[in-house]
Amino acid sequence: MSGGSFSKVGVVGLGTMGAGIAEVLARGGLAVVGIEINDEALARGRGHLDDSTGRAVKRGKLTEEGRREILDRITLSTAFADLADCDLVIEAVPERLELKRRVFAELDKVCRADAVLATNTSSLSVTDIAITTGRPAQVVGVHFFNPAPVMRLVEVIGTVVTEPGAVTRVADLVRGLGKTPVVVGDRAGFVANRLLFGYLNQAAAMYGSGHATLEDIDTAMKVGAGLPMGPFTLMDLIGLDTCLEVLEAIYRETRDRRHAPAPVLRELVTAGLLGRKTGRGFHPYGSAAEPAAA
Ligand code: 3HC
Repeated sequence: MSGGSFSKVGVVGLGTMGAGIAEVLARGGLAVVGIEINDEALARGRGHLDDSTGRAVKRGKLTEEGRREILDRITLSTAFADLADCDLVIEAVPERLELKRRVFAELDKVCRADAVLATNTSSLSVTDIAITTGRPAQVVGVHFFNPAPVMRLVEVIGTVVTEPGAVTRVADLVRGLGKTPVVVGDRAGFVANRLLFGYLNQAAAMYGSGHATLEDIDTAMKVGAGLPMGPFTLMDLIGLDTCLEVLEAIYRETRDRRHAPAPVLRELVTAGLLGRKTGRGFHPYGSAAEPAAA
C-alpha cells in the first residue's frame, strides 16, 4: 500500500472517526501527525488507537510487532505547528461549522503553501469551510464511514473552486490505502448519507408511531434485507447527535420531508442518549444492557 503523492499526513481531532482515519493512514505506511486540543483529549485519542489495534492483535489479524510499527508511525501532539511539514491534513473535529472554520483558518497559517487540506465532514458544506482559507483550490472533502478501519468507501468531494488535481491526488491516496473512492459534488449528505439517512429516519418515525418495536424493525432489516445491522443498531453506532446533524443539513438543503428529523430522534439527543458512546441510544449498551439484579 502507498500514499501516492502524500507521505506525511496530519489528522486534526482524534475522536472515533479521527483516530480510525489515523489508524488507516498508518496501516498504509504513512507518517501521521495526530492533533488534539489538550492532553486529556489526546489521551482519549491514544486510547482509541490502542483499543482498535489491540482488538486486531487479539483476533489474530495483526502481530504485536505489526501493531507497534503502526503506532510508532503516529506522532501525537497538541501543537498545530507540528503539522508544518505535512503534505495533507485531514480535519475530523465535531460537526460545528464555526469550529471547522476556525481549524481551517489555523491550518492555512501553519501548513505548507502546497499542502492539501481536507475535511471529513458528513453534513456541512465543504465550500463554506474552504473559503475561510487562502487556498480554496486545495481544499477537498474526504468522507470516511464508521468504523473507518473497516468500511471501504471514502467519498472525495470537490467544490466549484477545487483544483481537479487535488481531488485526483486524494482519490489516489484512498485507493493506495486499499479503500474505494467515489468522487462527488458538494451537496448535503453527498451520495451515501443522502440515500441512507432517508431510510434511517423512516425507521425512527416508524418506531415513534408505534408501528413496530425497535427489535422487530432491526430484525426485519437485518434478516429480511440482509443488512449487517438494523437501523437502530446502526444509528447507535453512528451516534444519534451525528444522525440528527446529518438529517438537519440534508433537510435544510432539500426541504424533502423524508429528511425532517423524526421527533423521537430529537428527544433522545435532547436527553443525552447518543448511542454506544454514551451507553444508551435506541438500545442500551455495556452495563446499562445488563439485566437488573433480582
Ligand atoms: N474498529 C475497528 N475494527 C472494527 C470495529 C471498530 N469499531 N468494529 C468492528 N471491527 C472489525 C472487527 O475487528 C472485524 O475485523 P476482522 O474481520 O478483520 O476480524 C470486522 O470489523 C467485523 O467485526 P465483527 O465480527 O465484530 O462484527 P460484525 O461482523 O457485526 O461487523 C460492522 C461489524 C463492520 C460494524 C458491521 O456490522 C457493519 O458493516 N455495519 C454497518 C456499518 C455502516 O453501515 N457504517 C456506515 C455508517 S454511515 C457513516 O459512517 C457516515 C457518517 O457520515 C455518519
